[in-house]
Amino acid sequence: MKEVIEQFEAYVHEFDLTNFDLERKYRHSYRVMKLMEQLAYSLKLSEEDVTLACIIGLLHDIGRFEQLKEVDSYDDTKFEHADFGAQYLKTSHFLEQCHVPDIWHPIIFTAVQYHNKYDIPEYLDEKTLLFTKLIRDADKIDILRLTIEKKQESTGEVRQQVMDEFYQKKQIHILPGFSKKEFVFVRLGFLYDLNFRKSFELVKEDEFLNQYYEVLDRPEELKEYFDFSRVYLEQQLKEEEHYVRYKI
Ligand SMILES: [Fe+2]
Repeated sequence: MKEVIEQFEAYVHEFDLTNFDLERKYRHSYRVMKLMEQLAYSLKLSEEDVTLACIIGLLHDIGRFEQLKEVDSYDDTKFEHADFGAQYLKTSHFLEQCHVPDIWHPIIFTAVQYHNKYDIPEYLDEKTLLFTKLIRDADKIDILRLTIEKKQESTGEVRQQVMDEFYQKKQIHILPGFSKKEFVFVRLGFLYDLNFRKSFELVKEDEFLNQYYEVLDRPEELKEYFDFSRVYLEQQLKEEEHYVRYKI
């Protein structure tokens, strides 16, 4: 892991870390690495697999640095940072240089590429699927934590598709011209794509739903949706861990 951290540090320091957004992503990478460690331990994975989880956590957003430099925006329609990140890792020999075992490479490429996609491909083997789900959870948990750090506007219209997906307990598709209010649905919709009990526990411990409600400028208009999410979260916490460990 030490070598991966050194290599990551060398890579990111080629960019201007005095840029607020870049520095934010730099810190996000380390927090997600820590979250991956927590989630991996909660599933009682082997020490090697905890290391693999940490590597994926640290590198999942490696494409963000080039994205912010190139287009100065988080907009993936202009520059798809996850595809870029996976491609960069494949072609740069980054992983070879820090002696990451070859057998892990395809898992890392896939987890990085699909950490932000709406769906995960169906053909993934069990181990790759596990690590892809882990990074999707860890990334979302940190994004939810960042969301409640400051005041948020919640005005505007909500389109039917957004409402339908929310009540069908599906992640919300990002539609063009999103209103501030629709953005709240996107964040609440993150809960529907969490895969592990520990993830729900962390969201609960963070008091995410209460905190988010507090930082909105017009929360009362959204109360019924927060209540719906609260019920969903409680239901998930009552369920058995529904993830069956892959066989090694
Ligand atoms: Fe990302």
